[in-house]
Amino acid sequence: MTLLVQISDTHVVERGTLLYGMADTARHLAEAVSQINSMRPRPDLVLITGDLVEHPGARTYSHFRDLIAPLAMPVYLMPGNHDNPYYMAEFFGDTEMFPGEAPHYQYAIEGPDFRTLMLNSHLDGSELPCFGERRLQWLRYELESSDQPTLVAIHHPPMTTGVGFIDMVGPDWYQGIGELLAEHPQVLKVICGHGHFDLSGMIGDVPVQMAGAIAHQLIAGRVIDIAPSFDPMPVPPTLHHWTDGGLVSGYYPWPDGVDAERIDKSSNMDWEVLKDRMRGSLK
Ligand SMILES: [Fe+2]
Repeated sequence: MTLLVQISDTHVVERGTLLYGMADTARHLAEAVSQINSMRPRPDLVLITGDLVEHPGARTYSHFRDLIAPLAMPVYLMPGNHDNPYYMAEFFGDTEMFPGEAPHYQYAIEGPDFRTLMLNSHLDGSELPCFGERRLQWLRYELESSDQPTLVAIHHPPMTTGVGFIDMVGPDWYQGIGELLAEHPQVLKVICGHGHFDLSGMIGDVPVQMAGAIAHQLIAGRVIDIAPSFDPMPVPPTLHHWTDGGLVSGYYPWPDGVDAERIDKSSNMDWEVLKDRMRGSLK
């Protein structure tokens, strides 16, 4: 069994400041870390799918690093458009959190049930995604080297989202990824962030799941092209649970006090009896 937790778009800013003066991204990340550490059974690993900080630099990455330090399981990082993979390689080089190396800054996480390929869609100096020939070559090599079930993680969503300001870059940047996935049926799912809202779609025959952000959400217009609204609230961590040879995925909140709220405690009934009732076997 593997339990993988994903959080995305933490957008940590300098200590003591709020993102855009509105969102307490440090508190949101600290709360997510606390929830993840409280989950039972304990998740096996945590992926943070980019936009770790709002502005890359020593002060923001050190703040981010202090906030995730309490995580009790291995943590893996990838760059988003707000990050800088060169700084990340330098800043996290003394840890196992970002083993990506130049020129592509991508890496594989090997697991007992499935492997995860951590891709890099960062384009220097731009919000836009990029996935050039060197990154594709690496992905091709990794997909050809193992037919173990595979999860692909990337910051930008490689799909049409229906949201104009995300889709305006067009589909060309992920065409090569789509062609490779079509040739490699071991890829189970693509997970991503970037949009600051949750959405599921497809790239070819492969499901794509975009997680909302820890920093804040965007309420983005569908169909009509209107500016997004800012909601300074986090989403819960996303759990990807290996079961029956595949992954089931969804938000997995684990707030303080969840144990006291369990229905066997609030009803003062044994859980095995409650389960029988739920099955309809008790009158
Ligand atoms: Fe973001």
